[in-house]
Amino acid sequence: MCGIFGCIIKEGAAAPLIHQSLKRLEYRGYDSVGEATIHEGKLHIKKDSGKIDEVHKIRNLDDLPGNIGIGHTRWATHGAPLMVNAHPHVDCEGQIAVVHNGIVENFAELKLELEGKGHVFQSRTDTEVIAHLIEENLKNNPSLSLAEVVIETLRRIEGSYAIAVISPKEPDKIICARNESPLVVGLGENALYCASDIPAFLPLTNKAVIIEDGELVTLSLEGIEIRKIATSSLVMREPKIIDWTPEMAVKHGYPHFMLKEIHEQPVCLRNTLRLQEHYLDLMTTFLDRAREVFLVACGTSYHACLAASYMFSKLAFLVTYPVIASEFVEQHGKSVNIDSTILAVSQSGETADTLAAVNAARQRAATILGLTNVIGSTLTRVSRVYISQQSGPEIGVAATKTFTSQLAVLAQLALRLAKKRGKVSQDEMDFIEAKLKKLPEIVEAVVKNQEEKVKDIAKKYRDAKVFFFLGRGISTATAYEGRLKLMEIAYVPSIAFPAGESKHGPISLVEQGFPVIFICPKDETHKTVIGNIMEMKARGATIIAVIEEGDEEVKRLADDYVEIPKGVPDVLSPIPFVIPLQLLAYYMALERGYDPDKPRNLAKSVTVK
Ligand code: F6R
Repeated sequence: MCGIFGCIIKEGAAAPLIHQSLKRLEYRGYDSVGEATIHEGKLHIKKDSGKIDEVHKIRNLDDLPGNIGIGHTRWATHGAPLMVNAHPHVDCEGQIAVVHNGIVENFAELKLELEGKGHVFQSRTDTEVIAHLIEENLKNNPSLSLAEVVIETLRRIEGSYAIAVISPKEPDKIICARNESPLVVGLGENALYCASDIPAFLPLTNKAVIIEDGELVTLSLEGIEIRKIATSSLVMREPKIIDWTPEMAVKHGYPHFMLKEIHEQPVCLRNTLRLQEHYLDLMTTFLDRAREVFLVACGTSYHACLAASYMFSKLAFLVTYPVIASEFVEQHGKSVNIDSTILAVSQSGETADTLAAVNAARQRAATILGLTNVIGSTLTRVSRVYISQQSGPEIGVAATKTFTSQLAVLAQLALRLAKKRGKVSQDEMDFIEAKLKKLPEIVEAVVKNQEEKVKDIAKKYRDAKVFFFLGRGISTATAYEGRLKLMEIAYVPSIAFPAGESKHGPISLVEQGFPVIFICPKDETHKTVIGNIMEMKARGATIIAVIEEGDEEVKRLADDYVEIPKGVPDVLSPIPFVIPLQLLAYYMALERGYDPDKPRNLAKSVTVK
């Protein structure tokens, strides 16, 4: 996710202010930090890997000279969390410093082109191309202003960005711009700020100008000038007065991180769909070669693995074994060997049970692949190949946005493998790929249109003593995940089963009014699921169904229902279908008087076995 900040102040030093503002953005990323200031016609830079306090202790971030500067707190996406990859990044001459939040999709092509023109790169980041491209454009257009050259540069950048740029060539200006990554400008008495988020400058000013996608802003002590990147035309915008408390600001006005993170899912999915192709290809090659593939994880990440086993089987005809990490050694330890491949999935990359399974498999010469949200975590260090799921830090203890991002990565892998193996027709492939691209919008629609309905359902069932969650096929994984969320956040004992299995025992629990949640996409399982709904109704169950829009058949059977947009292919269905279940857990927790961000007895990262 990363946080950027920049400031120009009339009097005094910018560096301590940048440092304090970055601290307030640390929730956006914390694996590296850096600052750049301008003083006496020169750039001054300090940066390193590590948390802000650790880096400050060693490097003293406050003693950079100058009244203008930019800073960055990083959550690695391209390149490990090393000093060389920390922002700000500079051009060859050290005349342009850039901080960036986002992903430059075409960085590989641009880097190649710039290297061809003699530019020398220091880091493995996508951001560095921006600094070199500005340098190149400045060289070719010496009469243009810095802002004009940055506009030229951004017209060639594909992907997402919020950037801030400074240069001793125009030592009294910060140029910042945005496309799909947040950017706000703060107007102080004798100072101007730009930041990824309002909390960065809220103690300094509550006057903010929200910058929109495709806009570039020039900050100077005279004021701000906003232009459209596409046309260079001027934009007029009045500042807003922000009446949030600092705590509300960190949560973006949401009462809890969990709700903020549920709402962030469309943005996270967009980032996840921008993964670098060559990492996906590399992992696909390993999966294709494997004799047996174990998908190993805990908790929510295990549910992503369970869903992935359906994706790999349906799309790529690859049999995979999803295994709960704490059971892996007992269940498969002895049979794992050099021909085995372990795809370990862990948001934190530090879960002790997952790492123990990985280590046991490594000792038997198995190939380790990793999917994680934290580059630099133990999992990335022990994996032959790893993919970063690009969700940004998740602060709520309950995994929400990281689950849907994991599913989106696993779906991309399954699709790639299907392509490689020639198992799925081009038409089907095109259809699924098109829907995958649409998922951010679909999830956005679910959150927007169904939240109130889920709130009402939570109110109605707030005193339920127990819930069943049932689904068939890939929706079994969705059911398991819905049940975990409700249990861990709202403390409602719940049971999840593949719907077909419910009649082999669990159904004996059902009596008048027993709430059963059915996950019911209109896939091949739909007819059979209707049979299961009838079984439950016949025994007096109350039916709550998550259905496709316009599924009249299930609507008639259900006491309550939540609708998901039509036409999501079954292999992608857990992504939108889990959203109402996350919201249900959240609102049930509120109804029952619990804090969803701090469930009792749980930790975000479980580092003990
Ligand atoms: C549930 C939850 C946990 C984690 C599990 C694995 O909401 O967050 O079940 O999914 O502890 O954590 P990672 O993915 O970090 O290995």
